[in-house]
Amino acid sequence: MDKMQQLIKFINHSHDISPSKLSSFLYRLNFSRSDFSNWIGDVTSKNASSNPNPPDEKMEQTNIQKTIVHQAPYYEVLLVRWNQQTFSSIHFHEQVEWGIIQVFGEASYATFLLNETDMRADCLTQTMLEDKSLVEINPDTMHQLGNHANEPLVTLHIYGNHSPVENISQSVGRFKLEKEKLVPISDKDAF
Ligand SMILES: [Fe+2]
Repeated sequence: MDKMQQLIKFINHSHDISPSKLSSFLYRLNFSRSDFSNWIGDVTSKNASSNPNPPDEKMEQTNIQKTIVHQAPYYEVLLVRWNQQTFSSIHFHEQVEWGIIQVFGEASYATFLLNETDMRADCLTQTMLEDKSLVEINPDTMHQLGNHANEPLVTLHIYGNHSPVENISQSVGRFKLEKEKLVPISDKDAF
């Protein structure tokens, strides 16, 4: 049984799954990029593509490739490949009650608090995640993930709910930042 199969078996057999339990299990599994080649191919610095332009929505569509590894009634497992210097929009996952992201490579990660009265976004945390770092996802997590490095980044995402949800990873609220205020943008896929 390969590591991905072990992960799926672990989730399927966990009656009270939580981000911290997933985190412990992922540390023990010790995934590396080579474990993902069936889904995303060989991701090394040699096949990185250069993109010197600032990030925008069009770039997000072309430079972030999402692969759904496993879909189950309560959760999804995704792999995302980020070309260099690409970033997600600020977003939250409407249907995610528990989840985790593990990064393979260096990633930049920020979380935000939305004040719905005036749509101001307060940045709560802004960190550089080291290779194999784990980030727990909770229902109120509003975040932005990106690749500031000069080689591709790979991220593993597990998004779940305690009830069955269709296409859980596609249910997101996305925003752009204008003059420190969050402006909703059309509902597209996020990660
Ligand atoms: Fe996300």
